[in-house]
Amino acid sequence: MSQTSAAIKMDSSFRAKLFDFHGVSMTRYFTDNWDDVQNFQARPDDILIATYPKAGTTWVSCILDLLHFGQASPERQTSISIYDRVPFLEMAVPSVPKGTELADKLVTSPRLIKTHFPVQFVPKSFWEQNCRIVYLARNAKDSVVSYFHFDRMNMAEPEPGDWSIFLQRFMQGKMVFGSWYDHVNGWWKKKHTYSKLHYMFYEDLTEDTGREMDKLCSFVGLSPSDEQKKSIAGMVQFDNMKKNNMANHSSISVMDFKISHFMRKGKVGDWKNHFTVAQNEHFDEDYKRKMTDPTLKFRTEIDIASF
Ligand code: A3P
Repeated sequence: MSQTSAAIKMDSSFRAKLFDFHGVSMTRYFTDNWDDVQNFQARPDDILIATYPKAGTTWVSCILDLLHFGQASPERQTSISIYDRVPFLEMAVPSVPKGTELADKLVTSPRLIKTHFPVQFVPKSFWEQNCRIVYLARNAKDSVVSYFHFDRMNMAEPEPGDWSIFLQRFMQGKMVFGSWYDHVNGWWKKKHTYSKLHYMFYEDLTEDTGREMDKLCSFVGLSPSDEQKKSIAGMVQFDNMKKNNMANHSSISVMDFKISHFMRKGKVGDWKNHFTVAQNEHFDEDYKRKMTDPTLKFRTEIDIASF
């Protein structure tokens, strides 16, 4: 059994409550190990994968894992879950190993480590060691839809309430890991002062996975063959990842797949099936007020004919 899939009783009493933590809404499952997380010793070749929840973290984690280790250890893909290959640094859920413990036990080089922290929460050793950081962002509308379904099915998350309440909460930043708006902007600003940060977008990855993989390779200093790249692009296609028990989170007992799947739709534009016209107008007005940096642009739809 995977290290992080240890049985947790699936029960809504497990759902955590949101509280303000240094100005960011969080739950205890991501703050209980705060001191160890903040004192985590990064190594110079560590790669930190940073995202706001539901941006495609698992997708980019699988891509980076395959790029680094797919050739030398193909068995990793079929025997070790992605959340053990790429530990979730701040995770501190009862009955499963903490993210810091899993990261400390990693024998790979580089170590791939995931975080959902806003930029100001990242342990200082990552900056001191000048680690590479890959930040993946996804447009707000698809993020909130994905987050809503995730919170419905994940018994460790706060109760989502109905869709309209959830959407309001998202706009107020009352989500685990805080405001989407602050998160994407905070990391975007960091890019201007920290050169080892590769900021990428879910929509671009959907539009042209090969092109985005090439950019990732040049960022992390890898030059796989065309054949390897083609094979990886195939393995990380949504349908293939959804079937892959080492990537689809099917062994995590706090997730109720009868409610929704972790690998749910994997689309750009699914928000159109959730937002009413009035919700969309209200959301757009609020978005304009919050997203004032003209250099940070998101796409909420892409031209399907182009991919
Ligand atoms: P949806 O709920 O919109 O389907 P994270 O890994 O950060 O939790 O993000 C999960 C979201 O990324 C889910 O979005 C999931 O389906 C999507 N996703 C995961 N792998 C994907 C892939 N290979 N292609 C497209 N989307 C993917």
